[in-house]
This record gives sequence, C-alpha cells and structure tokens, in this order.
Amino acid sequence: MKEQLQAIANEALAKLEHVEDMKSLEEIRILFLGKKGKLTSILKGMGSLSAEERPVVGQMVNDVRKQLEEKIQNTRSELIRKEQEKNIAQEAIDVTMPGTILRTGKKHPLTQVLDEIKEVFIGMGYEIAEGPEVELDYYNFEALNIPKNHPARDTQDSFYINENVVLRSQTSPVQIRVMEKQKPPIKIICPGRVYRSDPVDATHSPIFHQVEGLVVDKGVTMGDLIGTLQVFAKNLFGEETDIRLRPHHFQFTEPSAEVDVSCWTCGGKGCRVCKNEGWIEILGAGMVHPKVLETCGIDPKVYSGFAFGLGVERTAMGRFNIDDMRLLYENDIRFLKQF
Ligand code: PHE
Repeated sequence: MKEQLQAIANEALAKLEHVEDMKSLEEIRILFLGKKGKLTSILKGMGSLSAEERPVVGQMVNDVRKQLEEKIQNTRSELIRKEQEKNIAQEAIDVTMPGTILRTGKKHPLTQVLDEIKEVFIGMGYEIAEGPEVELDYYNFEALNIPKNHPARDTQDSFYINENVVLRSQTSPVQIRVMEKQKPPIKIICPGRVYRSDPVDATHSPIFHQVEGLVVDKGVTMGDLIGTLQVFAKNLFGEETDIRLRPHHFQFTEPSAEVDVSCWTCGGKGCRVCKNEGWIEILGAGMVHPKVLETCGIDPKVYSGFAFGLGVERTAMGRFNIDDMRLLYENDIRFLKQF
C-alpha cells in the first residue's frame, strides 16, 4: 500500500509538472483528491488493514494529500501569474510604432506668389488697398481717361452687368477710389481679381489676378518707378534679374511703358520659355496722367505719381516654371502639391 501511495503521489506530481491551464489543473485535482479520486479510494481500502497499520497508512495518506494540495496551490498561483503576464504583454503600447500621418494642406501657388509680392511692397512701406470686383464703368474706364466708345476699351472688353456696371477689367479703378478719399502722400498696392472676355488658352483666362501699385507725392519721378520695379523683380525672380522698359500707351499714364524681366529660365540668352527674346513681359506701368490726378482733385502741378499693374498668374508661372495658366485653376492636387 505504501508503494501504491508513492506511485500515486509520483504520478500526480509528474502530471502537475506539465499543466498548462486551469481546466486541466482542476481535472488532475479531481482525479487524485476528488470524492472518487485515487487517494480517496486508498482511504476506502484501509478497512482491510490491521489496527497497527491503519494510523501509519492514514498518516501517509494525509502527508501525500498535503503535498499534492500544496503543489496544486502553487501551480494555480503560477498559472495566474503567467496569465497576468500574458495580458500585460498584450495590452502594452508600442511607443516605437509610427503614428498616423496627418496630411497638411498648403497654399495655392497663386497665393504663395501673392504673399511674396505683398511682402516685398510692404517692406518698402506700401499699404494694401481694396476695391470692388463689380465696378462702375466710371471707375474702370472713364475716370482713367478712357471715355465711352474710346478704342482703348477694345483691349479690355469685359462683362457688363448693365451700361454703367462692369466686372472690373483691371485693378486700376482702385487708383481712383484711393485718390478720391486720400490725399498724398499715397503709397498703396491693391491685389485683386479682374475679368476680361478673353477665351481660355495657355496664357489667357477670363478671370485672372493683378496687383496694382500707386505712389503719389511731391517730386515722384520715373526713376522712382524703375528703382521700385527693380527691387520687386530681383526679390521675386532672383538677384541677377534685370528689367527693361518698352514705350507703350495707356490712357491713364504718361509716359507709359510695358515692363519686361530678363528670362527666368535662360537669364536673357534666349530660350523656349521667352520665345528666344531673352525677356518676358510681366507688367504695365507709367507716370500717373495729369488728367487722372485732376479728376481726383489732386493738383498735377504740385504732385506727381507712378502706377503699375502686374499679372499675378504670369509672375507665378515664372516663379515656378509653369507653362500653362490653366493648370493654376484646375485644382488638381497632384499638380498643386509640387509647389
Ligand atoms: N491696368 C493696366 C492693364 O491692365 C496696367 C497698368 C496699370 C498700366 C497701371 C499702367 C499703370 O493693362
């Protein structure tokens, strides 16, 4: 019986060594210590033992029971500890894992260039002025010395709301609005949208953007205009950029000029971008016409001024080497995100 007991104890201990979960632990407990378990059946068989043997075997059974109970308890604790460890490992946060990438938007190339232009002129002491896009014919044309039926209107055919109201074809009407309200010294730029009934192609759009500039004070000369435009061109297109003035005609400036910058691609040698000219036209400018000053109640004998109007699209195309204006309006993210 002693050997039998020892065999049971060994068998139980060996089984407990390999327990993996609570369920099999409980099965082992029932198998050995349960009511119908192996140890209990030994107790039941004790009736056949002699009176001297009984307490000895009884003691042995108790010792084995105690040993097994202890081992089962330890195994249970060990299983619980392993389970907890597993849970903690599963819940752990991997701080080295890359996060979700948030895509940030960016400014449209036209806005970027506009910001750069503003920065240059604000740096020279200019203020920003604004005017309406739906404008009176008076401001868009007449006060700028372009009477009704004057041929100069042909190049700026716009969209008429009625006989007296147009979508402005240039930002120059803001010159008049500013001069009506403000007396010299005046130093403003006016960025804004303008409209012309031009068909869409690589260099034209019925809606585009200009930045108007106006300086009126005592003793303002063409030299001031040229110096100002040089600063602008070098800032936007690079220090090595030159400007060139070609005589031109505008109704509201005299003298007038069209202004070119040396080609941003070839530097003036001649290439495809500048159509072998070495120069690219980006703005119109001139000395404010005495008649325009007079119309606004400013005495042309005391004051003089210069004005310019530059194309934002053209500047952006030069700045970023874009060869088709339409790309600026199609809002294709694949295109826009390059700048
Ligand atoms: N408004 C003119 C245009 O759109 C440009 C310009 C502005 C010319 C100011 C002279 C002075 O063509």
